[in-house]
Amino acid sequence: MKVLGIETSCDETAVAIVSSNKEILSHRILSQIDDHAEYGGVVPEIAARQHIQHLDTLIEGALADANLDVSDLDAIAATTGPGLVGGLMVGVMTAKAMALAAGKPFISVNHLEGHALTARLVEEISFPYLLLLVSGGHCQILMVKGVGDYERLGSTIDDAAGEAFDKTAKLLNLGYPGGPAIEKLAQTGDPLRFKLPKPLVNKPGCDFSFSGLKTAVRRAAEDCIRDNGAITPTDQADLSASFQKTVGDCLSARLDNAIDMFKGRVPEGDYPFVVAGGVAANKYLRGQLQDLVESRGFSFYAAPLNLCTDNGAMIAWAGMERFMLDPAINDIEVSPRPRWPLDSFADPMGGSGKKGAKA
Ligand code: KG4
Ligand code: ZN
Repeated sequence: MKVLGIETSCDETAVAIVSSNKEILSHRILSQIDDHAEYGGVVPEIAARQHIQHLDTLIEGALADANLDVSDLDAIAATTGPGLVGGLMVGVMTAKAMALAAGKPFISVNHLEGHALTARLVEEISFPYLLLLVSGGHCQILMVKGVGDYERLGSTIDDAAGEAFDKTAKLLNLGYPGGPAIEKLAQTGDPLRFKLPKPLVNKPGCDFSFSGLKTAVRRAAEDCIRDNGAITPTDQADLSASFQKTVGDCLSARLDNAIDMFKGRVPEGDYPFVVAGGVAANKYLRGQLQDLVESRGFSFYAAPLNLCTDNGAMIAWAGMERFMLDPAINDIEVSPRPRWPLDSFADPMGGSGKKGAKA
């Protein structure tokens, strides 16, 4: 079977086709980074207009790459949330129109579920597994019990990990997105020069907090300016390395607690651990997390770097997983949702207004 997946929830317009035997038949992605760069973050209106502008060409390209016609597809999947609603509407309406015109089912995909299941596209990983989902909008630890079956063990109470990377990079004038820039600079920096706070570490549970870290980086940068009149390239590199190490220490400390929680719920065994989302593209953090989970008896899995950040294959694959479980599926009545937590039974962590809980 073949499913085409469309991702338009943020600043990437992406389309991919995957098969039920885990082949990625085509994979097209258009980043809008340059369109948003001068604003230091994603501008929702610009993002939505760019998706409209490019989505049809990307779909045509993805079909051509795979040498397929729409009629050869078995289903069309699109991200219906969470994300920026203008972009979501573009992807969802396009996917629904294609599905109706071709007489194929439309499959609604939760963007977070796309991240959560991507590792299963490239590796044999069985349920249940422990998942650290670290992206620009989310930072959560979940127990993945099955497709559509998630239990949140912990979540950020303020900023997401990727958001902390982006805000720190903005502060250091490194541009957007911040993660890759900080990772590169950190390679030449001293991770021990700046002592930054590690909120919630040594506390029970596995929630996260990153907003204090951002403030501490700002203070440290101000101290550099006061002492030397400017932030030197060495300061930038040392701040990047110290920041990255602190994020890694926080993630590891909280994950260590989550491992205890996971082990308390599932009988003894060799368990999979998966790290997913854009921040999982960071090689330093991957290494640190791998060391921790392997020392605690888990097998470590992470998607290849290009499948960590937002892409169409993760949406096509999550659609495929749902389609394989329920071949009669059709979500044509489902509408875009700016907020859509994976674990709908958990208490909201924040933003429980009329749009619903953020996480
Ligand atoms: O998953 P993603 O593409 O989009 C969301 O769903 O949010 O994640 C984007 C986030 C950005 O905050 C970006 O700075 C971060 O992932 N990121 C990284 C790296 N590459 C991307 N963070 C740390 N190190 C990286 N190499
Ligand atoms: Zn994402």
